[in-house]
Amino acid sequence: MSGEDSKIESMMQEKRLFAPPPAPADTVSAKSMAEYEEWYRQSMDDPEGFWAQRAEELIQWDKKWDQVLEADMVKPEVKWFKGGKLNVSVNCLDRHLANGRRNKAALIWQGEPEEDVRVYTYQMLHTEVCRMANVLKKMGVGKGDRVAVYLPMVPELAIILLACTRIGAIHSVVFAGFSAASLKSRMQDCEAKVLVTADAVLRAGKTIPLKPNADEALAECPSVQNCVVVKRGGNEINMQQGRDTWWHEAITADGITADCPPESMDAEDTMLILYTSGSTGKPKGVVHTTGGYLTYAAQTCRWVFDLKDDDVYWCTADIGWITGHSYILYGPLALGATSVMFEGVPSWPKPDRFWQICDKFKVNIFYTAPTVIRSLMREGTDWPNKHDLSSLRLLGSVGEPINPEAWMWYHEHIGKSRLPVVDTWWQTETGGIMISAMPYATPLKPGSATKPLPGIDAAVLREDGSEAAANEGGHLVIRRPWPGMLRGVFGDPERYKKTYFSRYEGIYDPEDGSRKDEDGYFWIMGRLDDVINVSGHRMGTAEIESALVAHKDVAEAAVVGAPHEVKGQTIYAYVSLKSGVNPSDELRAALRTHVRKEIGPIATPEFIQFADGLPKTRSGKIMRRILRKIAAGQTEEHDFGDTSTLADPSVVDTLVAGSKEFI
Ligand code: WT7
Repeated sequence: MSGEDSKIESMMQEKRLFAPPPAPADTVSAKSMAEYEEWYRQSMDDPEGFWAQRAEELIQWDKKWDQVLEADMVKPEVKWFKGGKLNVSVNCLDRHLANGRRNKAALIWQGEPEEDVRVYTYQMLHTEVCRMANVLKKMGVGKGDRVAVYLPMVPELAIILLACTRIGAIHSVVFAGFSAASLKSRMQDCEAKVLVTADAVLRAGKTIPLKPNADEALAECPSVQNCVVVKRGGNEINMQQGRDTWWHEAITADGITADCPPESMDAEDTMLILYTSGSTGKPKGVVHTTGGYLTYAAQTCRWVFDLKDDDVYWCTADIGWITGHSYILYGPLALGATSVMFEGVPSWPKPDRFWQICDKFKVNIFYTAPTVIRSLMREGTDWPNKHDLSSLRLLGSVGEPINPEAWMWYHEHIGKSRLPVVDTWWQTETGGIMISAMPYATPLKPGSATKPLPGIDAAVLREDGSEAAANEGGHLVIRRPWPGMLRGVFGDPERYKKTYFSRYEGIYDPEDGSRKDEDGYFWIMGRLDDVINVSGHRMGTAEIESALVAHKDVAEAAVVGAPHEVKGQTIYAYVSLKSGVNPSDELRAALRTHVRKEIGPIATPEFIQFADGLPKTRSGKIMRRILRKIAAGQTEEHDFGDTSTLADPSVVDTLVAGSKEFI
């Protein structure tokens, strides 16, 4: 059995049930399953009343909305809290200055070097954010302008995002692991006015220059007039006169004060854009709006993590992804919580870095990804056992389905068999968590994200739109709008409708497969489109293919995901070379370098199989199903399903033979 099949098999057979721990008296999440069910029922009976109450409790509005929801899911056009006015930075900062949290730690930043720690109280963060907002203003940035951010996990990343929200500028963060070419295409797509970057990224003891990537991208981004550079590595870089400014100089320049009145924004004004991979070559700019996104991030953070005032909360994601946006920054700060931000990696200098940080700051709530759990699991239990993890109270997981083995390890060795493990299903597009246990209410089944949060109308549908029976696999869908949902694909309304609302009319389609068991628990089976999930990062196979084809020696390429023990999936590329070009290990290495340069290190194919031909139908369509099976090593029975439409069936045997080199 292949890795993929055995994973699904082990999930199908998973019957263990773990009762939630008793609810602490002061929990802000559901205290029992009965309470969850009651909230869920209310949210379905009266969605507008339900969300109005959430928005009122959690958000400070400059002006209350006129209408809670105006939605046409067919068009699609969805507006939440219409007519309402608010400012995100006021909600994340100013109001905490007045409510007793002024001197509370908002961010605890742990740098990659152990001695680099910075703590920002709400007051300190407010000051920095206002100063930076004034820097942006001085650069001519105003409401609705786009600011691109390409930074490592330094505090300036949090500061610049909040500074954008202060003046109503739209931020678009590009993960610092992406290449110059990826940064360029994203900045061009959103016509960014300013770029904020750094001289370098510190990673696993190395200083990796970042500014050269920014320079390369900026050479072809005429819309960007200013570039602000954070000094992190201290490495020698090029500063272009008239365009580039050091962050530390800009923020202390004459005339830059900490007084910056917030821009009062419409609830439906765009707050942020975040690019994500889809089934076609070009990443989509997912658009989130101010009132709905903030309400949703705050509310889900409260329910799922039960965040309270004296908690230390740590989400290990990078702010370059939506997880960091919603659950390092906006959710926790809107709630006035203390959020840990970590610059480094789990395995450096030793594989106990995460546990050491949990111990050091006495972390109470810890949120990470299955790939991290799997990689640390391999290092053995001595590493976590070296540290005092008794402060932990709640564990979370996100990014891909967590296999029961990893769930059990996390539960036993980190949670000491007493902590709830909440597996949270959601996407860049959903803005926040959609399907997850309530930590003190939901009985847990390892490998299941359990049930939809109140307000989320999730279901599993068949191709024909009817609801799947219990345990029958189908398309996961969301049938009603929720405040955190994306409002569009930047500059491309057609693609918005086509990608998310065309399979079933008026219903949001996340492109994930799932089944729902007899108890109503969801078991997410992974992507149904040509998107693969490598270490919790979403990669479009088409994107990697177009990068490969752009190489001068490549005639054609097909990319699929192959099962991988730690990463979940790894990238497997089939490449046909132009005639006259000979396959070689050097060429393989060159193609890898090429993809790193085109997209970024995370897109580097682990396997490259040279192939004279790809399995195509007579109409020329590549049969990926076959390629996926070969990459998964499922070739023994030669069961490739119906291959009668293949133009040349012998191609398959050749590919199977060629794959033996890797599998
Ligand atoms: C895709 C979204 C938003 C979190 C970070 C990834 C997969 C995410 C789970 C989970 C099963 C999951 C889905 C989804 N996914 N979390 N708990 N169980 N699958 O965000 O890059 O937008 O990727 O990640 O396939 O569609 P993203």
